[in-house]
Amino acid sequence: VKPKVYVTRKMNEEAMAILEKDCDVISWSGTDPVPRAELLKNIEQVDGLYCVLTDKIDKNVLDVAKNLKVISTMSVGYDHLDINEIKKRGIKVGYTPETLTDATAELTVGLLLATCRRLIEANAAAKGGKWQTWSPFWMCGTSLKNATVGFFGFGRIGQEIARRLKTFKTKEILYTSRNAKPEAAEIGALKVDFENLLAKSDFLIVCCSFNESTRGKFNLDAFKKMKKNAVFINSSRGGVVNQDDLVIALKDKLIWGAGLDVTTPEPLPIDHALFKFENCVILPHIGSAAIDCRMEMAALTAENIVTALRGEPMPSELKF
Ligand code: GLV
Ligand code: GLV
Repeated sequence: VKPKVYVTRKMNEEAMAILEKDCDVISWSGTDPVPRAELLKNIEQVDGLYCVLTDKIDKNVLDVAKNLKVISTMSVGYDHLDINEIKKRGIKVGYTPETLTDATAELTVGLLLATCRRLIEANAAAKGGKWQTWSPFWMCGTSLKNATVGFFGFGRIGQEIARRLKTFKTKEILYTSRNAKPEAAEIGALKVDFENLLAKSDFLIVCCSFNESTRGKFNLDAFKKMKKNAVFINSSRGGVVNQDDLVIALKDKLIWGAGLDVTTPEPLPIDHALFKFENCVILPHIGSAAIDCRMEMAALTAENIVTALRGEPMPSELKF
């Protein structure tokens, strides 16, 4: 008999075909997240789980999933998976790091430019009848030229952002991470401690993974230590930021502006204070949302499952 796989979201045909060649596949047919009860009901018998980052795979789910051998998430982040509980059960995990590095780096550069050059605000002004004339200092923002760009976390994505930003004639690239990165020399990035990153960065880009050591790292204390002209960018996970403190930082002009592709919660409620700041650009978690990238992510997520269920090495296994 074929192994059983549950897919938590409506997926493209190409990814489904990869799964269906080897497995009996059941799928949540919605483009919205699978309801919890539906997930719990369907996961009982399955050998493999194809999930996305809105699915909380915690002890509750794992206790029900008695036959589960592999979890494959269509994401680089895996903070939605309870890795300790997964480890205890000997379940393998697949994810999609390499596939989305470039798309996420592109989006982050776009978000940074949208924030520092006020693109969203300017577009709204033009469309809203507020464009009266060319004016010397109207809609002026800040520039990357001669700027110091700091990275909190400097993995694949951060490094690709840095490579792209250097072509904007930045002055200096700094980064903070637990371990020194061998790629930093070639990029020309300098490792500094958190205090120096805060004090020196004109642009501060969060590119770390989300875990207990990075939770709420950007709080009022951190924003107070940043430059008044600093542009804060986050395309990793909302939880790295204390959002109430970010609201204060923007209100009190402790920093110049913020660009966020991730928030807490997601979606961010429409009446949230962050939406009220013109100098805060908010995107709905679209870092990897380029069609070729998502197709590749979907295919890899499927490949990870079928190889694991065949007992072969997964093309992209999370080692923990
Ligand atoms: C997106 O946020 C991802 O983790 O892939
Ligand atoms: C983070 O930047 C990663 O891609 O690992």
